[in-house]
Amino acid sequence: MLDAATAVSATPAAIRREDYRPPDWLVPEIALDFQLDAQATRVTARLTVRRQGAHGHPLRLDGGGGLLPVSVSIDGEELHDAWRIDGEQLVIDLPGDDHLVETIVQIAPAANSTLMGLYASNGLLCTQCEAEGFRRITFFPDRPDVLSRYTVRMEGDAALYPVLLSNGDQLDAGELPAGRHYALWRDPFPKPCYLFALVAGDLSANRDQFVTRSGRTIDLGIWVREADLPKTRHAMASLKASMAWDERVYGREYDLAVFNIVAVSDFNFGAMENKGLNIFNSRYILADPDTATDADFDAIAGVVAHEYFHNWSGNRVTCRDWFQLSLKEGFTVLRDQQFSADQGSPAVKRIEDVRALRAAQFPEDAGPLAHPIRPDSYIEISNFYTATIYNKGAEVIRMMKLILGDEGFRAGTDLYFDRHDGQAATCEDFIVAMEDASGADLTQFRLWYTQAGTPRVTASLTTDAPGGRARLRLSQSVPTTPGQPDKQPMPIPLKLSLLGAVSGAAMGGEHLVILDEAEKEVTFDGLTELPVLSINHGFSAPICLETDRSPADLAFLSAHDEDPFARYEAMQQLMLDTLVGAAKGGPVDHTPVIDAVRNTLTDPALDAAFVAEAVLLPSEAFIGDQLDAVDPEMVATVREALRADLGTELIDEWRDAYARAHANRYEYSPNAKGMRRLRSVALAFLAAAGAPDWAELAFAQYRASDNMTDRQGALGVLANNDAPEREAALADFYDRYAGDALVIDKWFTAQALSTRSGTVEAVEALARHPDFTIANPNRLRSLVGAFAVNQRAFHDPSGRGYRFVADMILGVDKLNPQAAARLVPSLGRWRRYEPGRASLMRDELERVLAVPGLSKDVFEQVSKSLG
Ligand code: PHE
Ligand code: ZN
Repeated sequence: MLDAATAVSATPAAIRREDYRPPDWLVPEIALDFQLDAQATRVTARLTVRRQGAHGHPLRLDGGGGLLPVSVSIDGEELHDAWRIDGEQLVIDLPGDDHLVETIVQIAPAANSTLMGLYASNGLLCTQCEAEGFRRITFFPDRPDVLSRYTVRMEGDAALYPVLLSNGDQLDAGELPAGRHYALWRDPFPKPCYLFALVAGDLSANRDQFVTRSGRTIDLGIWVREADLPKTRHAMASLKASMAWDERVYGREYDLAVFNIVAVSDFNFGAMENKGLNIFNSRYILADPDTATDADFDAIAGVVAHEYFHNWSGNRVTCRDWFQLSLKEGFTVLRDQQFSADQGSPAVKRIEDVRALRAAQFPEDAGPLAHPIRPDSYIEISNFYTATIYNKGAEVIRMMKLILGDEGFRAGTDLYFDRHDGQAATCEDFIVAMEDASGADLTQFRLWYTQAGTPRVTASLTTDAPGGRARLRLSQSVPTTPGQPDKQPMPIPLKLSLLGAVSGAAMGGEHLVILDEAEKEVTFDGLTELPVLSINHGFSAPICLETDRSPADLAFLSAHDEDPFARYEAMQQLMLDTLVGAAKGGPVDHTPVIDAVRNTLTDPALDAAFVAEAVLLPSEAFIGDQLDAVDPEMVATVREALRADLGTELIDEWRDAYARAHANRYEYSPNAKGMRRLRSVALAFLAAAGAPDWAELAFAQYRASDNMTDRQGALGVLANNDAPEREAALADFYDRYAGDALVIDKWFTAQALSTRSGTVEAVEALARHPDFTIANPNRLRSLVGAFAVNQRAFHDPSGRGYRFVADMILGVDKLNPQAAARLVPSLGRWRRYEPGRASLMRDELERVLAVPGLSKDVFEQVSKSLG
């Protein structure tokens, strides 16, 4: 058990939103000088500081990671006693209102395993400053409302670091004695320090140009190891498409003469929007058909767009404080989702986004770490880069767009960008801009920013007779979340229609109903047929919906709904009702699902990508989310039973679909992607049916494919089942891609996600594989992150999976607290499971919490999960 006294005395303080105060000192200019060296880099920072308002407070500069000054000078004179260290801050009493403060520090990039601040990756030196990494590089007011103009001089060994990059434009560069050289960069746009970046190393660029709508030519560069240059083509095409899209859709043009992207292999997140110098996790840049799947290509386009879009939503207009994080992230996620929808199939993109929301955000919103999209407090801000801030944040802005209409929304974003250009803004500023531009009143809508929890909505339709009137009864309730026992009704925009039960046509078209009270009744007149309710078109609100629609109604909608998302959703609901009923021990009838899937599979009007999505069963995790006291074995059993029945009953249809979707030559197009997806889905159903030739088919697909999508699809099916071909394919895959880290990640993941028995032991063994390392976040995620979402293996009744993940958390925490903290939520959901597993999970969390010297990151996640 946990020693309560120790834990309390060790509790790091929470930062609260309501405590915000504007900065005492501003820093309009900063000049940085780096003497680069992997072991010992010397950083000289010259800060022009200006007192803001009338106060007598000293200048407080944040430091971190044990940073200590080598020297401190004020206005050109070195001080020995006019400064002090308070915690991690450097405190300086300053007599006047304007001063020049110079500090010198020495840091050790090669020894920095946190991947925050300046660190070494594969021989490169690079930075990551969001959220609070800059303080590990130099002493500075590390808060996003202090905006400065940066001048950066870098000096280093010309052979080790031939390329020296920073934000803005390069002003100067040259040779120095003793094989050294330097470069000088200047960024004319004032920015918060979290957007500072520097990269030094042996890199080559894929160079291109983009001409803006006002006729300026921008030099583009994607910087990678020379051998990786051929894998940057898709990223470059995505970048140019994003630049054009933001001009066309949001009227936003790029503002510097240079835009650089660097790919690094050690990176905690996906990518970072540093001004004019985005730094990416290499998995979101490098791709070719042989090594990257269609999903990887799509993700690259989405992330390249996301980071590029931040140039306006994040950089030109930044955040006042970190409680406003969703201001830039939620909005930018919406923008990248819109971009990707425009590039391919909007319906399929929406289905994918909703699936991601349900997989990551709904569980978060229903668990111990639930928080509003604008949180009220945090211990460690790195823990708040969550699906709630990002994905629910995007949903909230999407709802605003729906309520205001496309034109009102665009007027709102124009006003927001104009009004707050060059400023550090708040979520409230965004809402006010929307109101001012459109005339709408968003008073009640603000509840979406303050209340956590996924609203539950019930909808029930009653009718008298054809030709008569229908009554729709709606109700909502927002569940209790930590610190928020009482909730108010929110405005929930529901796009819906009533389909004629015979014709399938939407009677009276599509309606937008805003459910803004606890209960509401809406009536519809002049119906010519009995109606079937189609509701939450396009997932117009991020809610859990309960309706009293019968299996027959859902099957009808899955065949006729005009809204593709609602059509998909009807099938999902039909499957979910069947599975949840079975998991609760009710009577099992698979026939309606089988019939509906047959209809979808054989409907010639549907495209392959949509069919592949529609016939997929809800995930085990999502089924579990509908249950109390989840027994993952039971969930897996009922789901497998339905899968096997679908496989067996529709075996001819699966064979047909498999043959029809047979690939010709590889091509990256929406249609070809859809075919590949359907092919692997069909293959998985053939395996579920126990078709005698499933392994042979899978292995043949594995060997014959000319692209990673088909190869990985086959490998996944093989990895899930036992067959001689399984070992052969895994061994071949490993040998074929030895040394290609991003592909070897896939090899680890295929095994970590395996539904076959013995996966816990296999994963423990893989953690001892020479290619496994906890120091690289991608590799850690590929094995441990994947394992922790594998419902059957992670929840092995022995508790062995829990112990493995807890051990990993403790091991990783010593090196990289952010990466360690990300592994906590899987254990943190212990309350959702049946008592045996719940107590095993809780025991592991308590074991972690009892270890002295935990990072703030892990401490916050674990203590909140137990609290
Ligand atoms: N701001 C980055 C993005 O969403 C995410 C990020 C956060 C990256 C913190 C690194 C560190 O685009
Ligand atoms: Zn972002």
